[in-house]
Amino acid sequence: MSAVSNAENTQNANRVRIFDTTLRDGEQSPGCSMNLEEKIQVAGVLEEMGVDVIEAGFPIASRGDFEAVQQVARKVTGSTVAGLARAALKDIDRVAEALEPAKRPRIHTFISTSPLHMKYKLQMEPDAVHQAVIDSVSHARNLCDDVEWSPEDGTRTEHDFLCRCVEAAIKAGAGTINIPDTVGYTVPSEFHALIAMLFERVPNIDKAVVSVHCHNDLGLAVANSLAAVKAGARQVECTINGIGERAGNAAMEEIVMALRTRHDVIPYTTAVKSELITKASRLVAAITGFSVQPNKAIVGANAFAHESGIHQDGVLKHTQTYEIMTPESVGLTQSTLVMGKHSGRHAFKAKLAELGYPELSDNAVQDAFERFKDLADHKKDVYDEDIVALVDDTVVRHNDRIRFVSLQVVCGSKGPQTAELELEVDGERKRAKAEGNGPVDATFAAIKAIFPHQTNLQLYQVHAVTEGTDAQAEVTVRLEEDGRTVNGQGADYDTLVASARAYVNALNKLLLKREKTAPAALSA
Ligand code: KIV
Ligand code: ZN
Repeated sequence: MSAVSNAENTQNANRVRIFDTTLRDGEQSPGCSMNLEEKIQVAGVLEEMGVDVIEAGFPIASRGDFEAVQQVARKVTGSTVAGLARAALKDIDRVAEALEPAKRPRIHTFISTSPLHMKYKLQMEPDAVHQAVIDSVSHARNLCDDVEWSPEDGTRTEHDFLCRCVEAAIKAGAGTINIPDTVGYTVPSEFHALIAMLFERVPNIDKAVVSVHCHNDLGLAVANSLAAVKAGARQVECTINGIGERAGNAAMEEIVMALRTRHDVIPYTTAVKSELITKASRLVAAITGFSVQPNKAIVGANAFAHESGIHQDGVLKHTQTYEIMTPESVGLTQSTLVMGKHSGRHAFKAKLAELGYPELSDNAVQDAFERFKDLADHKKDVYDEDIVALVDDTVVRHNDRIRFVSLQVVCGSKGPQTAELELEVDGERKRAKAEGNGPVDATFAAIKAIFPHQTNLQLYQVHAVTEGTDAQAEVTVRLEEDGRTVNGQGADYDTLVASARAYVNALNKLLLKREKTAPAALSA
């Protein structure tokens, strides 16, 4: 397997490679799961953005992960496609197999190196870990020219041992050495010193690109990544919207915009087209059901909104009074098209493009258009937020095994509250009528009657998309089964229909998650 060099793009010493792990570490977030088509969609946007490396999954984890890596490898030609493997030969073989169709394949292999992880998680002596580094990297290098090696829990690893392992990995053929702050423990000054220490002490460090992978447990993932870049790291691992295990990973949009906006003090560049950030953020939020907090840097709904009179006045006089970057630079455009019940399909498509959804499939556009017409019949003003919620819901439902068809609810103070529901399960229409303690309970009971399952409802949340009594409701449902959690989302002008859609969406995600097994620490 040969890797096509990215050298022509990355020769500039100040160029930072962006390694996106939304599809691997991001997808490991509690409650998150993406199906094959969704992963391909996200990979397509990442490639279009100019991301250098897309980590598409962990092939040994499940058949679904294997297929996702394989399909992304087949479709993506502009970015390197990486697959993750523990330091076990069978893991590495599986990644190599999945990456077979890739134009630019990379095997990413890792093993824990901190005293705590080696003793309790791996139950291995340091010398055995050191040997596993050599064996795993050598094996990967026999299968692929481009190998990345990571010492898991790198920031809590003893420096002498870290240097020894890094040197051995480079000697065995790793072209990228990635230092993870697995538990989000480090701080910028300490991480800067750690990366500088590696440059000073590892004799063959100049033969590899140094990468960093920061988690956000203390809210420092982006700051730590930037400190590492200042110390010489030239690859940053990150995710869209900062999704990932626990508090998440470093957010790609923040890394890219910090480097772009503060080039005066952090003079490094990336190849990412920042104008596609909003599109990527919306797609990932829609697919994962993880909505972005309104005050989130760069992609939050309020990131470019000015409420106070003093700020509004300042921005009207000169935008730079309160804006350090333009909304356009992250792909946010001023709305020019006002939508209503007389808007046609053509205008709707143009609106979708304006909102950052130019490439939805014809079926998805048709579904969304029909729902838009229905919404416009029930709601006087259709705002951009309504269309975003509606399209997100359409993207989310695309390809689901269980689909919502219709719902009729009887509710009010003179019970019993009943729900009559129709779903399509694997292409077959099924109906059920159920009673419950209130209309939501009755609706969920009807879903259970059609598709029996044992789950705990951990969260039921309703949010109004816009103001007014005719606003659409956006519902989030979190289900738990055997320690696995999933979030489902649904939107509709009828809160109960939105609730049914959200529950059904969560169930679909759960079906997908049932296929996954959590790989043990190591079974080398
Ligand atoms: O956080 C971590 O240590 C990881 C490694 C597999 C790179 O995700
Ligand atoms: Zn991680």
